[in-house]
Amino acid sequence: VNDRSTAVSPSSAADPRLPLVQFVERPGIIDLGWGHPDPALLPVEQLRLAADRVLAQYGADALNYGHAAGPGPFREWVAERLAAIDARGPEPASIVASAGNSQALDQVVSLLASPGDIVLVEDPTYHLAVRILRDHPVELVPIPADERGLDTDVLGDTLDSLRRAGRRVRLLYTVPTFHNPTGVSLAPERRHALVRLASRDGFTIIEDDAYRELSYDGPAPRSLWSIAPDGLVVRLVSFAKSLAPGLRVGAIVADAPFARRVADSGVLDSGGGISHFASLVVAECGRSGIYGTNVERLCGAYRDRRDALVASLKRVLGPAASFIQPAGGYFVWVTLRGIDARALLATAEALGTSFVPGEVFHLAQGSMTSLRLAFSRYAPAALAEAAERLGHAAESTRV
Ligand SMILES: Cc1ncc(COP(=O)(O)O)c(C=O)c1O
Repeated sequence: VNDRSTAVSPSSAADPRLPLVQFVERPGIIDLGWGHPDPALLPVEQLRLAADRVLAQYGADALNYGHAAGPGPFREWVAERLAAIDARGPEPASIVASAGNSQALDQVVSLLASPGDIVLVEDPTYHLAVRILRDHPVELVPIPADERGLDTDVLGDTLDSLRRAGRRVRLLYTVPTFHNPTGVSLAPERRHALVRLASRDGFTIIEDDAYRELSYDGPAPRSLWSIAPDGLVVRLVSFAKSLAPGLRVGAIVADAPFARRVADSGVLDSGGGISHFASLVVAECGRSGIYGTNVERLCGAYRDRRDALVASLKRVLGPAASFIQPAGGYFVWVTLRGIDARALLATAEALGTSFVPGEVFHLAQGSMTSLRLAFSRYAPAALAEAAERLGHAAESTRV
């Protein structure tokens, strides 16, 4: 999730050390461009204990090639956890361990798409998922999204015209819950409409469910996977946001035949289960209660950060902008009035704050007046200060 890859150089020429992490510190800048957790919120000591217990319990089996679908204790715990946080849970046989949603998306597209297939993508969307999709010889077609998520009426029309043109739609990639970059969740009736269209036209929905656990105003909406017939949705679950991204652990949740297909793939046959040791550590965190406590702690901290940023934005931006208050996830999506986001970025950086301009998240020509702010990495006081700086920047950029 090198969110700044399109905005800044990932390595600093002035630093003689080889980099350890993605994040690039820019002194004096409160950088709301990064969709990263605050290092202070990563459970270092708890993970050290969990890793120790895994080695004590499983010994060499924790360090050997793992079962292709992921270690049993991990798949069993994921099944239980998903049943607890969604309308229905999968069987362990429908779950395959992944190295997080980036790797899982790449693998699922490799297995399901043929050259020339159409992959539908909501617009705006997570820009780095677009990079992953573009590593494959598929054609991407944008479907617009609004404040209620993917526009399923436009989707229906697009499917009709593609069908008339004899084109095959194979996949649709979507982040229906606490979207990156907009923070929006797909409205319930649109969730059902999307599932109906996928069922009618025979394409697979890839549901990127990276943010479900980070829900601040009540339970997250039901997943698409939970409301769809078996085989229609491949859901990508990640522990990057709810535990730690450096673990590289997630899960692909589908139906049992597709899970078997993933586990039978060459890469898992050769290398064994992905992130074997780290997924045992995640399962240990789950069983011991570390995971649940951590999610509660994160939701409390991120809720405070969201509230601090939203309150400050209301105060400093006034009529210069509108924004969507997210009910979960990492991001606030701002729409400016009469201000170009690129021009604002230059002024904001000079005043000591930064963000990602919205056009980065559009597949084609995007809006020049939107921007994404991540509230995950900074404490409330720093977010309030960043908003102040943004407000000053907006005042001096307004035309
Ligand atoms: C929507 C979305 N999908 C996937 C990812 C990356 O997931 P992972 O860290 O599990 O590879 C991110 C991270 O920002 C994201 O926002």
